[in-house]
Amino acid sequence: MTPNMHDAEAIPEGARAEIDRLLASGDLFRYTAPQDAPVTLLEREFAAEMGVKYALAVSSCSAALFLSLKALDLPRDARVLIPGFTFAAVPSAVVHADCVPVLCEVGENYRIDLNDFEAKLDKAQAVIVSHMRGHTSDMDAIMTLCDARDIPVIEDAAHSLGTLWGGRKIGTIGRIGCFSFQSYKLLNAGEGGILITDDPELVARAVIMSGAYEHMWQKHLSPGDNSAALEEALQRWQNKLPLYNLRLGNLSAAVIRPQIAEIPRRVRDGRRNHDRVAEALDRSPWICVPPKLDQEDRAPDSLQFNLSGMSDDETRTFARIAGENGVKVQVFGMNTDNARAFWNWQFMPEVPELPRTRAMLMRACDTRLPARLTEEECDWVAGVLLDAAEAVMGPLRAFGT
Ligand SMILES: Cc1ncc(COP(=O)(O)O)c(C=O)c1O
Repeated sequence: MTPNMHDAEAIPEGARAEIDRLLASGDLFRYTAPQDAPVTLLEREFAAEMGVKYALAVSSCSAALFLSLKALDLPRDARVLIPGFTFAAVPSAVVHADCVPVLCEVGENYRIDLNDFEAKLDKAQAVIVSHMRGHTSDMDAIMTLCDARDIPVIEDAAHSLGTLWGGRKIGTIGRIGCFSFQSYKLLNAGEGGILITDDPELVARAVIMSGAYEHMWQKHLSPGDNSAALEEALQRWQNKLPLYNLRLGNLSAAVIRPQIAEIPRRVRDGRRNHDRVAEALDRSPWICVPPKLDQEDRAPDSLQFNLSGMSDDETRTFARIAGENGVKVQVFGMNTDNARAFWNWQFMPEVPELPRTRAMLMRACDTRLPARLTEEECDWVAGVLLDAAEAVMGPLRAFGT
């Protein structure tokens, strides 16, 4: 039977009692309860899970990225270096923060091209590293280059919850890490996001701009070591910053909180599924799954692979056959209006040409591969993809030559 490749996992039963309580009381706004609102508890639990001092839950990862840039207090038109392969929300956040996105090349392995990154870094005032689809760029090299120039790094870890780099949690390496709770991510609330940092100044600014008006920010102080510096910064920024009102609501937090305990299992199953399909696909001469970097322990929630030796028409035919047989494949650069193809980000002041990234996008395929699939279902997915490649390249080539 064709597996369901699309649905997310059911929300844990444990969420129901809290949602019922919120529905009965109507207590949906994060700042109504005097203390311990679900959003506040989510922030504490997420910070503890990530081993950081501060977390701020907001309406989306895009909002978290925007607030991160605003928290850095960058001047108008500051140049923010971002990868040329990411989701349109990333350059959008930069534009929204009155900054200018500068795109650097991304290689065939979906990771930042460090030569191009370094060449463009000197003119940048901040960097957003998107670990696109959970593929981690070389954070050692990036941090060395940025630290040497005192350029702040924001990690866009929308797809990277659970990923480790040299044993460190992705999202905790730069000055700020941003995560998404949109449905295709490891923690699913439909919509939502969170930013994490150890810097009280940055989080204080972000808290106020997220919509902690009047003295609502007091509800961000938790009993513990991290409060004194935060309280001092919050008091200082009171009334000095615009309110963008990008708060998360209690219902979303109630949906997310019981999923935090599921992270290790989801990471384990997602990795198992990814590696199983990747190994099968790598046996094909026409499909290549770029290997992970040595320092990386991945937490994949989807599968990306490159087609090799196929023309544009053959690439399209491959995607069509796979789709007809039950596995939807998007070729990033060929799917009309794909929000991950940089030439579609026409809202930017300037859309550059990135030949390496463009070449990668024209052969890079994107497939959902939920962690809840069984190993048999993964084998079925691999079989559909291998058969599609053979249908295009195997018999056709054999007869044609
Ligand atoms: C790499 C990346 N960054 C940021 C985002 C934005 O996340 P959100 O939908 O929570 O705003 C996404 C969304 O999928 C993404 O893929």
